[in-house]
Amino acid sequence: MADPKKLFIKTYGCQMNVYDSERMAESLGGSGYIEVSGPEEADMILLNTCHIREKAAEKVYSELGRLKEYKIANPNVKIGVAGCVAQAEGEEIMRRQPMVDLVVGPQSYHRLPELEAKAGNGVKALDTDFPEEDKFEMLKARPKAKRAPAAFLTVQEGCDKFCAFCVVPYTRGAESSRPVDRILREAEDLVKRGVREITLLGQNVNAYHGIASDADGGGTWGLARLIRRLSEVEGLERIRFTTSHPNDMEDDLIAAHGDCEKLMPYLHLPVQSGSDRILKAMNRKHTAEEYLKVLERIRAARPDIALSGDFIVGFPGETDQDFEDTMNLVREVGYASAYSFKYSARPGTPAAEKGDKMVDAAVASERLQRLQALITSQQRAFQESMVGREVSVLFERVGRVAGQMVGKSEYLHAVYITGDVQIGEIHRVRIVESATNSLGGVLVA
Ligand code: SAH
Ligand code: SF4
Ligand code: F3S
Repeated sequence: MADPKKLFIKTYGCQMNVYDSERMAESLGGSGYIEVSGPEEADMILLNTCHIREKAAEKVYSELGRLKEYKIANPNVKIGVAGCVAQAEGEEIMRRQPMVDLVVGPQSYHRLPELEAKAGNGVKALDTDFPEEDKFEMLKARPKAKRAPAAFLTVQEGCDKFCAFCVVPYTRGAESSRPVDRILREAEDLVKRGVREITLLGQNVNAYHGIASDADGGGTWGLARLIRRLSEVEGLERIRFTTSHPNDMEDDLIAAHGDCEKLMPYLHLPVQSGSDRILKAMNRKHTAEEYLKVLERIRAARPDIALSGDFIVGFPGETDQDFEDTMNLVREVGYASAYSFKYSARPGTPAAEKGDKMVDAAVASERLQRLQALITSQQRAFQESMVGREVSVLFERVGRVAGQMVGKSEYLHAVYITGDVQIGEIHRVRIVESATNSLGGVLVA
């Protein structure tokens, strides 16, 4: 048998890219590739990219610049660009970096093996179509290798919301949901391979509306029904989902947080701003009050839920008062964790095309710092509130210190213990200390 070829994938961006990278690596397995952890020995280097902010996109070009040395050392190395930058700027990538052999968008990566076979020796391959076929069905079967206990599973892709600042509707295309039975099959397969926790992924995962086969009862299912059905899968112990839009938090999904035991008490629900004026300009189609009402209902269903969010500061036209509204919303909610970003004008998006006056860069930076300080203090307070409490931990890896094991609590905190537990097991742990980014605990059961 020929020696396997070596594939190095570097992944940027969101969890969906992490999932896609796994699927791309698996599908190139059929072309004789095994995945390696660095570019040095690789026969193919693939960057799975993110276009969400300018910095993310620029990273790709500087990384390609660095990769040149591998191409010079070995002209047979194939260099590919996948993901959202590939979708948005495929041809420009080829122009700016002629050593790139192939470009493949997020909706056509099931064609990667063909593109890989075609590309190289000066031949370029580019595919940024939005094909009709279901790429997941066209992908090579996932090999039966053992998996880590926590996995991602994409159930929905694309976005029809068109927030004024966001490239996702253009890079990922229109909203589409995978059929129920395919998701169930994939989940069952993951569980057979050692997975205990599945995070359902979608750019707007709670807009999921998948077709169920007659065997499953037929009809179109929402996310709540899918979660309830998945919780019947034996051996699957935990379910999470991300990312959700406040307008799609329907009653049955909120109820599931209260009565579906396997659904973890953690919800990432971005709001972006606390100012109704800015929310309107962002085309979010909800007010701050409506967002808070949704949270209230979720907290009524699941009082211990850990909330997380995303914020953009410095959206064009944002005044000091608008920003204070955001600070006040954050104070009111009390997040377990949150991400905040400085607005980045993205080509092709309505906010960028309108050319509204940008917020002064120094002002935006100052706002970001203040918001991040507030979020960090909330995050710390939430983490510290765990001390003395009992949590359940899914153990995922060995720690750095001998005998130490590390896992995740239901609230997504990293928890370490010293004790005799195996990867993939779930145990009750009493939290005894809070470190910078993790909690220390002792085994209860
Ligand atoms: N589908 C998700 C996430 C989209 S991208 C959602 O609806 O929230 C993740 C986050 O990146 C967004 O929530 C937003 O906070 C941020 N983001 C998106 N576009 C941005 C831009 N142009 N500038 C700065 N941050 C942006
Ligand atoms: Fe982007 Fe808005 Fe869609 Fe989220 S909901 S992916 S922020 S357009
Ligand atoms: Fe980035 Fe595309 Fe995800 S732009 S955030 S990789 S959907």
